[in-house]
Amino acid sequence: SYYTEEYRPQFHFTPEQNWMNDPNGLVYHNGQYHLFYQYNPNGTTWGFMSWGHAVSTDLVHWKHLPIALECESDSNGNVLEMFFSGSAVVDVNNTTGFAIPVGKDRRGHVINSTPMVAIYTSYYPTAHTQSNGVVIRAGQQSQSIAFSNDNGLTWTQYEGNPVIESPPAGYVDQYQNFRDPFVFWYSPSSKWIMVASLANEHTLLIYSSDNLKAWKLESQFGPENAKFGQWECPSLFPLYVDGNNRAEKWVILMGVNPGGVITGSGTQYIIGSFNGTTFVADPSDTYDPTQIPAGSIVFQNFESTSSTFKELGWKATGDFALFGPQVASSVTTQTINGNLGSGLLTTWIVDDSATGTIISPKFIITKNYISFLIAGGYYPYNPSTAGTANDNQVSFSLIVGGQVVHSQTGADAENLVWRSWNVAGWFGEEAYFIVTDLNTNSWGHLDVDEIIFSDTPKVEANWNDFGPDYYAAATYNGLPTADRIAIGWMNNWAYGGNIPTSPWRSAMSVPRKLALKTINNNVLLVQQPVSSLSSLYTPSLYSRKFSSLKSGETEIPVPAPYNARMKLTVSFKRGTGSKFGVILRSNATNTQETIIGYDFLGQNVFVDRFKSGDNAFVGSEPNQFPGHFIATLPSTLTDSITLNILLDWSSVEVFDGNGQVAFTSQIFPLDDSAQVKLFSVGGTTRTVTVAINGMKSSW
Ligand code: FRU
Repeated sequence: SYYTEEYRPQFHFTPEQNWMNDPNGLVYHNGQYHLFYQYNPNGTTWGFMSWGHAVSTDLVHWKHLPIALECESDSNGNVLEMFFSGSAVVDVNNTTGFAIPVGKDRRGHVINSTPMVAIYTSYYPTAHTQSNGVVIRAGQQSQSIAFSNDNGLTWTQYEGNPVIESPPAGYVDQYQNFRDPFVFWYSPSSKWIMVASLANEHTLLIYSSDNLKAWKLESQFGPENAKFGQWECPSLFPLYVDGNNRAEKWVILMGVNPGGVITGSGTQYIIGSFNGTTFVADPSDTYDPTQIPAGSIVFQNFESTSSTFKELGWKATGDFALFGPQVASSVTTQTINGNLGSGLLTTWIVDDSATGTIISPKFIITKNYISFLIAGGYYPYNPSTAGTANDNQVSFSLIVGGQVVHSQTGADAENLVWRSWNVAGWFGEEAYFIVTDLNTNSWGHLDVDEIIFSDTPKVEANWNDFGPDYYAAATYNGLPTADRIAIGWMNNWAYGGNIPTSPWRSAMSVPRKLALKTINNNVLLVQQPVSSLSSLYTPSLYSRKFSSLKSGETEIPVPAPYNARMKLTVSFKRGTGSKFGVILRSNATNTQETIIGYDFLGQNVFVDRFKSGDNAFVGSEPNQFPGHFIATLPSTLTDSITLNILLDWSSVEVFDGNGQVAFTSQIFPLDDSAQVKLFSVGGTTRTVTVAINGMKSSW
C-alpha cells in the first residue's frame, strides 16, 4: 500500500519521504509539467537544501524523479552550497549556448537539444574559495544557473557561477538576504527578466539579460503594502483583465514571512504595469499604512509608562516588573461608541522580563471591525535574544461572553502588523482584550499599538489566500496558452517543522488557475483549482437542494472512505439565520470538527480549525496552529454564495464561487471524526444546494 500513512495527502503532491518546502522551477516542456521543490534528502526538517523533482502530464498524477540539484559539502562535512528557491525556463533560442548536438535529421543536419535552465539562489553557509576562483563569504546568497539537455533529468552547473554574486550598490550589506530569482522571457524586448528579493529590505530587484549569464539591474520595487518580516519568492507575470487580451496587467506575487494574514507565512499580490524594465503598482492597489477608515474610533499610539498605564484603568495580572502587580484593581466598563476620552492609551506595553497577562477594560461592541497594530519583537530591539524562539512574542485576544473569539500572536520581527477582526456577530455584547506576554526574555518590550473600531476593515495588503498554509507560491513558465497556474507550499514557517507527519513533511497545494477579474469595480486576483482535478472525482455521492435549511445541524451521509476526501460544492442564500456552513471531519459530539462557513452579518467566509484534531505539536511557537480565519466577502440579501471545498486527509482548501477569497489550511483529525454536517445558526438558510464527489487517490 503506497501513500496510505496517517495524514498522507491523497491528491496533493508530497515527496515519498523527508522535508519539503517551496515549489521551484515550475516549467512546462514537451507535454510535461515539471515540479522542482526545496528538499532535504537527509531528514524531515529543513536542512541540506536541494532541488527535488517530479513531473506530471495533467497536474494531478505525479512521477517522482531523481534529485536535480543536490546540496554540496566538503570532505569535513561542512556544507558549501545549498540550492535555494528559484525558477526554470526553456531556452528555445539557445541564448545560453548550452545546447548540444543530440542527433542528425534525415538530411544529415545536426539536431540540437533544447536546454532547460534553472535559475536559483546559491546559499553558501561556509566561507571558501570556489574552484573557479570566486571567493565566497559565510552566509552569502547569490544567483546561479544550471542546465539540462535531457529535459530536466540530469543537471550541470554553469562553470561561471554565481551569475549575480552580490546585491547592487546601496545594498551590499544585504549579501546574506538576496534570493529567490524568478526568470521569464519578455518577448517585446527579446530579453530574459529576473525578479529577485532583498528579503529584509522589502525590495525586489528587476534585472535583464540576453543569455541568462550576464545580468543588468534595471529597476527596483518596494517597500509596498505588507512590508513585514521578509519578502521571499517573488514572481511577476501578465494576466488579462476579465479575459480581455487588450487589457493586460502585471501581477507581483510574493511571500511575506513572518507577517502573513494569520501568523507566520502569507502570500500577497500587487497589480500594476510592467514595461520591460520597471513595475509600477496601480495606485488603487497600494495601501497607505496611515490611512484609517472613515468614521473610525482611533486609539493612537502612545508610549506607555507605569503611571499612564494606570490611567488606562487596566487590570494587570502576573508579575510585570515595569508596572508592578495589579496596577488597577477594578475592571471598568466603557462603551466604544464615541470618544473614550483623553488619557486612554493604545500602546499596551508589557515588560519582557516575565510571562503574564493584561486585561483591558470592558467595552460594548458597536462597530463591525476591530483593527489593531501588533508589534512583537524589535521594540526596542533586543540584540541578545533576537532570532531565538518566542523572542518578544505577544498575543492579543478578544474575549466575548467568556470565550476567546479572536486571537493573534505577534512573532519575531513581526513589527507593526495590522490585523482586522470582524466583530459584527457580537454587536451589543460586552467584550474585553487580553494581552499576553508569551516569553521570559529579560530585556525589551512588547506592544499592541493603535486600535481602530470601524465599520470597514483597515486594509494593508491584497492577500492571495486567507488561510495559514499557502506560501512561496510560484507559477508555471512555458505554458502554451496565456493561462497562469500557481502551486503553493501548503505549510507555514511558524510551525511547519513540527507538523505530525512521517516519513515526509509538507505537501503542495492543488495547482490553481489564476485570473484577474473585475468585482465591484476592483480588479482582483482570483483563483480556482485546475479543472484537470475533476479526473479524480467519483460519481456524485450526494446531491440535494433544501429550499430552506432549518436552524441547527443536519447530517449528510457520505460513505467511507470519501468522508475524508471529497470535493464539496455548496450554494446558499441568506434566510433568517446569521451563519451557514459545513462541518467536516466531525465526531458526534463535535469535540472534533473543521468548520467552513459564511457569516451573513459579518459578511465574511470563515474557516475554523480550533478543533480540527491534533494541534498540540506547535512546539516553540505556542498557539500558532489552532485558529479561526476570515476573509471579507460582501453579499446582498438575494445573492447566492458558492463555496468550493477540497478536503484531503490533512487539509482543506476553500474557494468562493468567484475565487476572490481562498483559504488553505492543514488539519490533522482523528480517524473516527468522519461526519459531514450542514449548519444554520439562529434561523434558516435559503436555497441550499449541496453536491459531493469523492476524490480518488492520485497515487
Ligand atoms: C521561503 C524560503 C526561500 C528560500 C528557501 C530556502 O520559504 O525561505 O526564501 O529560498 O525557503 O529553503
